[in-house]
Amino acid sequence: MHRSNDFKFILPAMGALAVLLLAGCSPDSPTWLNPASPNAAKATDLFNLIFLISVATFVLVEGLLLYSVIRFRRKSTDEMPTQIHGNTRLEIAWTVAPALVLLVVFGFTWQTLNELETMPTGGVKVKVVGSQWWWHVEYPDLGVVTANEIHVPVNQPVTFSLEGKDVIHSFWVPELGGKRDLVPGKVNTTWFRPTKIGTFRGACAEFCGSAHANMRFTVVVQSQDDFNKWVAAQKQDAAAPVSDLAKQGEQEFVKGVCVACHTIGGTAAKGTVGPNLTHFAARKTFGGGIIENNTENLKAWLKNPQALKPGNIMVIPKLTDTQVNALVEYLNGLK
Ligand code: CUA
Repeated sequence: MHRSNDFKFILPAMGALAVLLLAGCSPDSPTWLNPASPNAAKATDLFNLIFLISVATFVLVEGLLLYSVIRFRRKSTDEMPTQIHGNTRLEIAWTVAPALVLLVVFGFTWQTLNELETMPTGGVKVKVVGSQWWWHVEYPDLGVVTANEIHVPVNQPVTFSLEGKDVIHSFWVPELGGKRDLVPGKVNTTWFRPTKIGTFRGACAEFCGSAHANMRFTVVVQSQDDFNKWVAAQKQDAAAPVSDLAKQGEQEFVKGVCVACHTIGGTAAKGTVGPNLTHFAARKTFGGGIIENNTENLKAWLKNPQALKPGNIMVIPKLTDTQVNALVEYLNGLK
């Protein structure tokens, strides 16, 4: 009687567990099951192989177990079976067989890691510095500095040098490559060769403080032509403001506290604590890749940056509506 009562809870419990697990599977979440570079594909292949081996092992072991439990279960007429201890042949078999399986897994893992660790020569070089809680992005050979949005050409190797400014962060674009830590005082490297044009989401994959979950970025993979155009535009100084309101905004910017942290190429703003804003309006997001870059959000941000991203280090005096409108007009012109 007890038993059937216990079983009543199993189905609902399994259902609830499945709902919890699947809740993580939003259709627009980036996943390494959807590789867009040979680097990510290698990791996916390795995962699939290890998963297959694990499933086969599970089915074999559980199958033998269930078979034995049913086939050799005790009947009411059975006597006490012979009592035995140890079986050398069996014990050697179940030690050697798993060791061989693990040796196969080790071999494939070793091979994949070696292939992923071999840095290509040439291609595009990108330096990324992780800070609480945004990404400084620099192309040393191209003279471009931006933030939170990495543009790369398709079918070219992209090599990254990765540094941490304050604490350890981790650079991860699931569809393009594996994780690599950004450690203060150390330069790490990683690379990938994107094979699909499109926008890929990246995130910090190492807990780095209260806004760790709000430390995102995007990788925009473009045709070589589009990439060249982007580089040419990024190398320019900031566009001069045209309207009176935008001119007022520029004055607010260069005479206010903004210059302590931000650079805008071609102006007096040369701060390096926060993201470079020279071509701010060309970026799709701000605030560490989490806030859509539009007029409404930008106004809300300037009125109270802490409300949109609690814990970030942009602490500014309260601005009047006129100041906010002028600054937004100016920033919106920085294409
Ligand atoms: Cu940076 Cu988590």
